[in-house]
Amino acid sequence: MPIQTTSKIWHNGKLIPWEQATIHVMSHVVHYGSSVFEGIRCYGQPSGSAVFRLPEHMQRLLDSAKIYRMTIPFTLDELCAAVVDVIEANGVAPCYIRPIALRGYGEIGVSPNGSPMEVYIANFPWGKYIKGTGGADVCISSWNRLAPNTMPALAKAGANYMNSQLIHMEAEINGYAEGIGLDVNGLVSEGSGENIFIVRNGVLYTPPLANSALSGITRDSVLTIARHLGLTVTEQALPRELLYIADEVFFTGTAAEVQPIRSIDRILVGDGNPGEITKQIGDEFFGIANGLKPDRFGWLTPVKVSSSEPVTA
Ligand SMILES: Cc1ncc(COP(=O)(O)O)c(C=O)c1O
Repeated sequence: MPIQTTSKIWHNGKLIPWEQATIHVMSHVVHYGSSVFEGIRCYGQPSGSAVFRLPEHMQRLLDSAKIYRMTIPFTLDELCAAVVDVIEANGVAPCYIRPIALRGYGEIGVSPNGSPMEVYIANFPWGKYIKGTGGADVCISSWNRLAPNTMPALAKAGANYMNSQLIHMEAEINGYAEGIGLDVNGLVSEGSGENIFIVRNGVLYTPPLANSALSGITRDSVLTIARHLGLTVTEQALPRELLYIADEVFFTGTAAEVQPIRSIDRILVGDGNPGEITKQIGDEFFGIANGLKPDRFGWLTPVKVSSSEPVTA
């Protein structure tokens, strides 16, 4: 889906016109992939709109930057305020928010030290990430996720998404909605842009972060919701074949939200319909995000924009 433009983008503390948020082709990031970024959603509420888990996302941005020795000259509070400012300036909600910190135009060469940090925050309408109704048909990729001590999986860095692109393109070419990456030891890691959960015999499982998974904010939300619902939750290494015999499997992510999976490598998950636990968790997640259930965990930051109809795929 082409990007739907808005009016302003936040750049290093100022709102600038969307068209002027450009960088030079010789910027460090273009050659060496030196960026860290976030993806956040702002949901429509019965009155107004609210950003979902804003401080947690911006803290992850700062953490990703720290891993790469990038200095972001803004505090957590300033970055959160900037997100609210840009959404209110554009008057667009519901929306997706894309903060990005990158190494800009300065010196050529691998060392990033002579290239300035630039921080941008854009927001724009974005609908359902994984298209279609019901569950998604997915595959296990022939590409592994990032090996430990190569590219740090806990940093949400632009460069990691070269691996995600390999996984996602392979899936798409073969007619699947998404691909699941195994880690370097062949254990389940995550989707190209989502964490993964399985349910078997009433227990909810997800791989630990040490299996090269991103510390997803939605993953954390689902773990919190599941514990609140009294479910048994286990973060443990999962062999590939457990995916094929699971009762329920679903992806989680800011873009994908809570996305049931119908089949994996053409093997039906359960009876192919979203399972009861997936539905229970999804109801709670969307209920809170859309302001239809109490914000019992303090996850919403209100913004002063009346929401329009959600964008559909
Ligand atoms: C590789 C990867 N894993 C997991 C996730 C889910 O993370 P979150 O729930 O914070 O969006 C994402 C999306 O950001 C991702 O790109």
